[in-house]
Amino acid sequence: MTDKMLEAFAGTKKAGSIASAALDEVAKIVKPGVTTEKIDKLCYDFINDHKAYSAPLFYRGYPKSCCTSANHIVCHGIPKDKVLDEGDIVNVDVTALKDGWHGDTSRMYFVGEVSTKANQLVRTTYDALIKSIKILKNDIYLGDIGSVIQNYVEKKGFSVVRDFCGHGVGKKFHEYPNILHYGEEKTGDKLKTGMIFTIEPMINEGDYETKVLNDGWTAVTKDKKLSAQFEHTVGITDDGYEIFTISNKGLDYPPYKI
Ligand code: MF3
Ligand code: CO
Ligand code: CO
Repeated sequence: MTDKMLEAFAGTKKAGSIASAALDEVAKIVKPGVTTEKIDKLCYDFINDHKAYSAPLFYRGYPKSCCTSANHIVCHGIPKDKVLDEGDIVNVDVTALKDGWHGDTSRMYFVGEVSTKANQLVRTTYDALIKSIKILKNDIYLGDIGSVIQNYVEKKGFSVVRDFCGHGVGKKFHEYPNILHYGEEKTGDKLKTGMIFTIEPMINEGDYETKVLNDGWTAVTKDKKLSAQFEHTVGITDDGYEIFTISNKGLDYPPYKI
């Protein structure tokens, strides 16, 4: 790796670990009765306390510091005074901007006990993300990532959202390349050492179609069935990959034992 790549990796690692530690803190407060507004405040304060900036805040007019997407919300749910209830599943997505570098990550949380279906959907989404990360190395194709995710998810009877994708990340929040979570192997550009990007599959219980609500942000499933998502920021190394947003506390998958 070149010095420039090493610098980007070190910067992204710092930003990623702040983002991931914020999600560890979120695990402590997600329970029936908590508002998504409270989750947002925790993320804002935690990231601020670590001398970083919450990249979503004012990004293209986005009004909050994180996204909280419950149940049939696919992504970009805006935190508000809405209370989370027993049985809800919710994704919290944070991005820390630290010393010029971005770290972007999201996890699902269970609010109390959740249904078997919700459990299966969340498990499948997590496993699909991890499977797609495990193949990462130099010279594979972008399409290989989407192919692994789509094959696995559809085998489990769920569907892959088409309308949103992962993205390159660095000094900019969103940059080249787009990471599609569906597609054909051996298609698209090749992965190269030094590339840093997110993989963030949104997986639906029913159909993959989404629509955006009148607030201009909140994306929901058209059929109002459940949707789940996990996101990691990863980098391609000389001999494989590095994940920048792993939980230091082992809180990668719900229910979080804390
Ligand atoms: N964190 C989201 C992503 O994974 C982007 C959120 S943009 C916002 O790319 F403006 F909605 F916050
Ligand atoms: Co992202
Ligand atoms: Co994100």
